[in-house]
Amino acid sequence: MRNVPRTAILAAARNPLARRFMSRYGMRLGAARFVAGETLDECLDTLAGLNAKGLHANTTLLGEDVTSRNEAESVVAAYLTTLDRIAERDLRANVALKLTQLGLLIDEELAYANVARLVAHAAERANFIRIDMEHSSVVDATLRIYRRLREEGHANVGCVLQAYLYRTPQDLDALLPLRPNLRVVKGAYLESPEIAYPAKADVDAAYGTLMEQALTGGAYVAIATHDERLIERAIAFTSKNGIPADRYEFQMLYGVRPQLQLDLVRRGFKVLVATPYGPQWYPYLMRRLAERPANLLFLLRNLFR
Ligand code: FDA
Repeated sequence: MRNVPRTAILAAARNPLARRFMSRYGMRLGAARFVAGETLDECLDTLAGLNAKGLHANTTLLGEDVTSRNEAESVVAAYLTTLDRIAERDLRANVALKLTQLGLLIDEELAYANVARLVAHAAERANFIRIDMEHSSVVDATLRIYRRLREEGHANVGCVLQAYLYRTPQDLDALLPLRPNLRVVKGAYLESPEIAYPAKADVDAAYGTLMEQALTGGAYVAIATHDERLIERAIAFTSKNGIPADRYEFQMLYGVRPQLQLDLVRRGFKVLVATPYGPQWYPYLMRRLAERPANLLFLLRNLFR
């Protein structure tokens, strides 16, 4: 059931008219609920506000599928500044980035060099870089780059595994010897049933198994979901298996289940809020709408208002 509106929203989002309309009016219609502004300054203030509530955060300059070297270079420059500004303001915040924004679709070596530079810059500031996972066509290259960074001795870098892909349990097994820092997610892209579970119940089941395998396999696990059943399962599993609190954290998206985020902090858990910013928020917003069609009603209500 979930996949019908989800697929329709992701497909409609590609329509150029929808894109133009939303790019023009989307912020006013409600994108601001999920995006911490269009500038770094706005975002840093939001990160400070989250920290003040006991939450950790990461930030992302929104954008993906970059096709020019110059653009990739300007993204690197923006992230270097972001890491400096986070350090200056002493925020409990790190960076999550997409390799296609650093040039992966142009040249894997370029993306590697760019991310390695950012990981080294982050290390000098005792900070951390998370490499997001994107559509299935770049999963192999993303995992290759992550492996290379770890094998070259970079400890302050993590990546993401998507439970909806059939291949993911094998990917996890291959990564475990690296003692990886893994964020486990359900998966947000439109993928074919040949490579990904189409039914939500199967994705949820795969998520539970994956999360537990990552925890018992020695990874540091960022349990990134708003699904309360899975969160409670993780809490019960870590407690039953004596997995200490410094081996995992919960992660949620900015604007999604804020009360649940605070409830977990009050219960003593580490919670990180993924907080993106930047003018290129359209594809990100569309993925958030597709996850929960009720968000579309929220936008439409604002439109009629
Ligand atoms: P599910 O979709 O079952 O939702 C559970 C409940 O959470 C819903 O019933 C609803 O209450 C609430 N909820 C979920 N999404 C909502 C939304 N958009 N708006 C309002 N309420 C919502 N994906 C990916 O492919 N690559 C990546 O790198 C990442 N990175 C990432 C980081 C972090 C910190 C998070 C939390 C998520 C991602 N994702 C991601 C997205 C992920 O794959 C997935 O699409 C979303 O987290 C939604 O799935 P849930 O696990 O929340 O479950």
